[in-house]
Amino acid sequence: MPSVHRTPRWDVHRLPRARGKSFLVTGGNAGIGYFVAEQLAGTGATVVLGSRDRAKAEAAIGSIGSRVPGARVKYVPLDLADPASPAASVDALGLERLDAVVLNAGVALDHPPRRETRDGHELMFATNHLGHFALIHHLAPLLTATPGSRIVTTGSFAAKSERLDLDDLRSTQDYRPKRAYARSKLAQMLFALELDRRLRAAGSTTLSVLVHPGGALDSLTPSRPPVHLRTTGERLSRLPLGLVVQGKDAAARPAVRAVLDPSVRGGQMLGPRAFGLRGTPRIEPLWTHLTDTTTAARLWAASRDLTGNDPTFTAPAGFVGTEGPATGHGEAGASIG
Ligand SMILES: NC(=O)c1ccc[n+]([C@@H]2O[C@H](COP(=O)([O-])OP(=O)(O)OC[C@H]3O[C@@H](n4cnc5c(N)ncnc54)[C@H](OP(=O)(O)O)[C@@H]3O)[C@@H](O)[C@H]2O)c1
Repeated sequence: MPSVHRTPRWDVHRLPRARGKSFLVTGGNAGIGYFVAEQLAGTGATVVLGSRDRAKAEAAIGSIGSRVPGARVKYVPLDLADPASPAASVDALGLERLDAVVLNAGVALDHPPRRETRDGHELMFATNHLGHFALIHHLAPLLTATPGSRIVTTGSFAAKSERLDLDDLRSTQDYRPKRAYARSKLAQMLFALELDRRLRAAGSTTLSVLVHPGGALDSLTPSRPPVHLRTTGERLSRLPLGLVVQGKDAAARPAVRAVLDPSVRGGQMLGPRAFGLRGTPRIEPLWTHLTDTTTAARLWAASRDLTGNDPTFTAPAGFVGTEGPATGHGEAGASIG
């Protein structure tokens, strides 16, 4: 009987070792990013937390160190709302290779008033999308120098029913915070897929992968003192919500899989298995509006004009790539368990 090659089922509790590799997690000091960093640190890799708050980053490093024997975790200052910060962060990284960057940091405002960065951009669009766009511009040489490196962008279910207004990327007309947040996440998702197309066209070995964490609540998240404390009362009162959404420890798993799973391809999207809201990470079909290449190209051009950055990748010298096209059709097409 002929042997059938099957990729092993991804086990969130048995991650591959990644000693010698380096990963950067933006917003790694709190929330989902903290758990991405904690889980990646458990593989033996060096993990760098990109954080705008030194004290919070040091608390996260202490917490990870107390749970992961021999953890190699560092911190680099990064404020995505400050246009000067991404370049300075990359200069301060001090790494010879970068195997993956997880674009996780994000801000979500629930109430007006509309807030702006110093250079006049709406705060959520500037932090979540433009700041990461600029970061990837500055990281491109390091990622290119690391064959098979990965850029993992964190989208959101909130973007599923949203559309961009390319004529009002600063949200100056009819500002609604939840809509502006969802649009900023949609911008990140379109960016990730446009980046995938550009990486392929350039013959780069770097992969751009999209993830979304589902629904994640602090009240369903285990304590990690002093980073995050959950009382017994909170845990008990929110227990029923655990049927629908999950803690930030579980919400970190799509990004962790996107970083580590050798069978993940550029242009794929990973999210939680159960209704896209909770559960183990799986590769899922792209939502139809994410495949709108015209909008993605226009967004890229606008982001370049707004930031003065233009992430550019080349094939590493002398490297012959083996990456085939992504299926774009979810787990079944990708034959992953
Ligand atoms: N939670 C959910 O249900 C959910 C659902 C869909 C998508 N997401 C996405 O998942 C990601 C993480 O969400 P979360 O729930 O973990 O949020 P969170 O607990 O509020 O953590 C957000 C992280 O981003 C950092 N951050 C915010 N503004 C920043 C800036 N200007 N520069 C650098 N870092 C900044 C925060 O740093 P500080 O500690 O300094 O504030 C923090 O580390 C976000 O991209 C979010 O959009 C979350």
